[in-house]
Amino acid sequence: MRRPLIAANWKMHSAPEGFDADESTFRANSAVDVVVFPTFLQIDLCAKAGLITGAQCGRPEKDGAFTGDVSMSMLKEVGCTYVLCGHSERRTHYRETNTYVEEQVIAALEEGLHPIVCIGETTQERERGQAKEVIMKQVGSIPHGEISIAYEPIWAIGSGESATPEQAEEMQEFIRNILPQDIREQTRILYGGSVNAFNAKDLLKQKNIDGLLIGSAALDPVVFGEIVEEAVSLM
Ligand code: PGA
Repeated sequence: MRRPLIAANWKMHSAPEGFDADESTFRANSAVDVVVFPTFLQIDLCAKAGLITGAQCGRPEKDGAFTGDVSMSMLKEVGCTYVLCGHSERRTHYRETNTYVEEQVIAALEEGLHPIVCIGETTQERERGQAKEVIMKQVGSIPHGEISIAYEPIWAIGSGESATPEQAEEMQEFIRNILPQDIREQTRILYGGSVNAFNAKDLLKQKNIDGLLIGSAALDPVVFGEIVEEAVSLM
């Protein structure tokens, strides 16, 4: 059985008001994994407090002339165990391609980091009936290994309009079926995009939704705690 994973992506926000690293709803418990993705500047704080901590991105090269970047090996050194690869905001604002995401995943795996590879289609791609084709290309370039995937339709991210549980499950099942046989059953496929305390449970009930990647709702420790509790209640 796949252990649920609830992930908090703080994006470019400081630690949420009321966040106390030691008394935190962002802490894993016996039933579900909870991972927090703070900015680079707060990784140390979260990791030292014993939270499972990840970075929002990482550069594949070990070091070099890449102004502003941080490598996978550096993330490992500072206490990260997870890293997001190819979040749609990185694909859009930093033009990260499937090939680059593949390089990130390889580097992360080499360092012993657990990559969560983010994939998802735009509104236009969905309307044109190309969603599955886009997903196939994104999944096709993911190296085999111990990874998780986050299906995050771009139209649902930060929009307040989550995919319905049925829409999400259709895509999550599709993704599972195109994963290579050797990693198909053990790979956790998360859903992300406007998850909140009200829709979390119905999403998590779906057969192929093994967890959630949460942006806005993770900026409120109380709401995030409620979502974690929903996940625990389904175990
Ligand atoms: P959201 O963000 O929950 O605010 O939609 C999700 C994400 O971008 O990972």
